[in-house]
Amino acid sequence: MIRMRRLRASENLRSLVRETVVTKDDLVYPVFIKEGHNIKEPVESMPGIYQYSIDRFGEELDRIIDADIKAILIFGIPEKKDEKGSEAYNDNGVTQCAIRKIKKKAPDLIVIADVCLCEYTSHGHCGIVCGHEILNDETLDLLGKMSVSLAGAGADIIAPSDMMDGRVSYIRKSLDSNGFKNTIIMAYSAKFASGYYSPFRDAAQSAPSFGDRRTYQMDFANGKEAVRECENDIEEGADIIMVKPALAYLDVIKDVSYHTDYPIAAYNVSGEYSMVKAAALNGWIDEKRIVMENLTAIKRAGAGIIITYHAIDAAHWIEEQSQL
Ligand code: PBG
Ligand code: ZN
Repeated sequence: MIRMRRLRASENLRSLVRETVVTKDDLVYPVFIKEGHNIKEPVESMPGIYQYSIDRFGEELDRIIDADIKAILIFGIPEKKDEKGSEAYNDNGVTQCAIRKIKKKAPDLIVIADVCLCEYTSHGHCGIVCGHEILNDETLDLLGKMSVSLAGAGADIIAPSDMMDGRVSYIRKSLDSNGFKNTIIMAYSAKFASGYYSPFRDAAQSAPSFGDRRTYQMDFANGKEAVRECENDIEEGADIIMVKPALAYLDVIKDVSYHTDYPIAAYNVSGEYSMVKAAALNGWIDEKRIVMENLTAIKRAGAGIIITYHAIDAAHWIEEQSQL
């Protein structure tokens, strides 16, 4: 008889043969910075997550550094929104100012800047709107300007999440020709039109005022197309590719990992977080156990970088585990 249970007999044996271990180095923590003063506003649908104004963000930054988190993903929420999302590429916009301040206080912390217009446009779409159409090519120029402005403020990584075609090569060219040859691009390559983003849209105040995002984000039924999206972005110059959401798309992460040796990030999105938090708050699940199981599954599927709202908690749990 083959006795599979031999290797499961003790924790030391189990850890000896364990295939996947999530470390603090794998985690990226998303943050929301809102224009204004003295703001620490809880995001109702995401217990534990807050919008901060720049002047109050110091306390969150301390928590991030205490937890030994090495990278954050920053979302800015401007006071003024307009048709063309002008604040997105204003060098003194809320996101640019926040990045400058964070980089000054924590120069080694990797700052990833989300590049998309939806938090900045009055209509809440990720591109320029004409009637009810979201224009592709007209949007590229604004994404290029936004990327250059964020890189100029000190962002280490530019992360386009808009899903316009051709944005990665356009952004690469814009960065290169403005002296940012070494700024990294992490492309939201396989980003699906997902119901799991709705708590985020409260957090970032970015819900579209009409229609939905299905003409630019991917149909959730398509796995092969996700591989093509990743291949295209690699060809266009992405350094890191992303699959989003994570948990309902582990098959996609796995497929992509078979097709490329580029680093793969997965975004464990707001709705995935909220479901775990809601069940945990009701006492229906053991939060720590479920979170570590989910994060391990994402890494096991093939993502070496995990963007998650659980990052700070998970980092503390990982640290506790290492001290046992
Ligand atoms: C902006 C953007 C979204 C998310 C990240 N960047 C929302 C969307 O596309 O509507 C979702 C993140 C999350 O749900 O945690 N385009
Ligand atoms: Zn967007």
